[in-house]
Amino acid sequence: MKIGIDKIGFATSHLYVDMAELAMARNEEPNKYLIGLGQQKMAVIPPSQDIVTMACTAAEKILTSEDKNKIGLVVFGTESGIDNSKSAAMYLVDLLGLQENLRAFEIKQACYGATAGIAMARGYLDLHPDKKVLVIGADIARYGLKTSGEATQGGGAIALLMSSDPAILALEPKTAYYARNVMDFWRPLGHTEALVEGKYSAKIYLDFFKRVYLNYLQQTNLSLGDFSAFIFHLPYTKMGLKALRTIISDTEPEIADNLKEQFEASREYNRNVGNLYTGSLYLSLLSLLQNSSSLTAGQRIGLFSYGSGAQGEFFTGILQDSFEDFVNNDHVSTMLAKRHQVSVTDYEHIYRQSLKNKDELIIDYKSDRAPFVLTGIKNSQRQYLRQ
Ligand code: HMG
Repeated sequence: MKIGIDKIGFATSHLYVDMAELAMARNEEPNKYLIGLGQQKMAVIPPSQDIVTMACTAAEKILTSEDKNKIGLVVFGTESGIDNSKSAAMYLVDLLGLQENLRAFEIKQACYGATAGIAMARGYLDLHPDKKVLVIGADIARYGLKTSGEATQGGGAIALLMSSDPAILALEPKTAYYARNVMDFWRPLGHTEALVEGKYSAKIYLDFFKRVYLNYLQQTNLSLGDFSAFIFHLPYTKMGLKALRTIISDTEPEIADNLKEQFEASREYNRNVGNLYTGSLYLSLLSLLQNSSSLTAGQRIGLFSYGSGAQGEFFTGILQDSFEDFVNNDHVSTMLAKRHQVSVTDYEHIYRQSLKNKDELIIDYKSDRAPFVLTGIKNSQRQYLRQ
């Protein structure tokens, strides 16, 4: 039986800041952000959006009422939790109108959360092939203003509908993972911004990639030539390029050039949104599917998931016959093109409005036309609206 990704939905906010403008405001060369980090635009998340609203928007784009009735498991991967106890998945079950005979919960391991959700979905679908699983990766990436991490923020949500007989990508059974206690990036309780050892984190990312990739090759006897594309968790898109370079440096130019070309397609959306944490790898998959002109059904894609702290996993999937129907759907590029640019001053203002354990709050959401918005907090309870 095949198990894999049947549909992918994506949502981010309607606002972004231009990276060249941000670089100039920070007295940096624009090319440091544009080329050195590989980032062009960064999503700015207003107070009317959070992980729940963006996850609902992403999921609503792909789910039919038949899908909703078949979902038996909702796994919400995030490291931007809105409650220490209640999971964001409960709000989503309600706002999307899912049938209630299901399991729904939140899961955390930095940027690895959605991949952990996929691992659970595999087990669940093996036991219940007639059901479907909704896996969410939703986050708002925040570092301090004027820190070196600032240029690697972003935010948004990915919704993956997993099923047996998937339309896009059938996951292959073998997978390689590696976990070790590392202090490369963390967010202690009470902190609204992440703490990070930036250069160390990049080193650990590459180390984990090497370990799981080699482990996977050993398990399967596959080699580089068996892959048509590699996609990566992309905290900033240059990070994935660095990882790719480690495995193509001594290979034939034709294979290397093809993998580099696919990588360019896979970073297009991430370059224009920024770090999505849990959703980043899957936004890159969406970007590859919609921006590559040379993928064909039957090809193998390698996926590297990384969550600081740290967990790495390398796994693979085979493109399905119907994946091209999905590719022709261009809603992401249209949606990204329609966003409004904000100045660096406005971005800083929005950044400072972040919600800090407020019990009562009214949010001005009128300029936000997203289908789901956060309208405020009453008696410490978040108020959502479907508009
Ligand atoms: P920095 O120190 O400001 O930047 O911070 P830099 O000096 O390292 O420069 C960046 C790159 O720009 C360098 O390229 C420069 O050479 C280049 P590299 O040597 O790395 O290839 N550069 C230029 N290129 C062209 N023209 C120019 C120019 N000037 C410089 N004029 C850093 C960079 C990534 C460390 C910082 O942004 C940061 O701390 N970010 C957050 C941490 C992060 O993203 N880590 C990635 C791995 S960990 C991970 O992926 C997990 C994560 O997503 C969290 C989770 O799991 O939950 C973060």
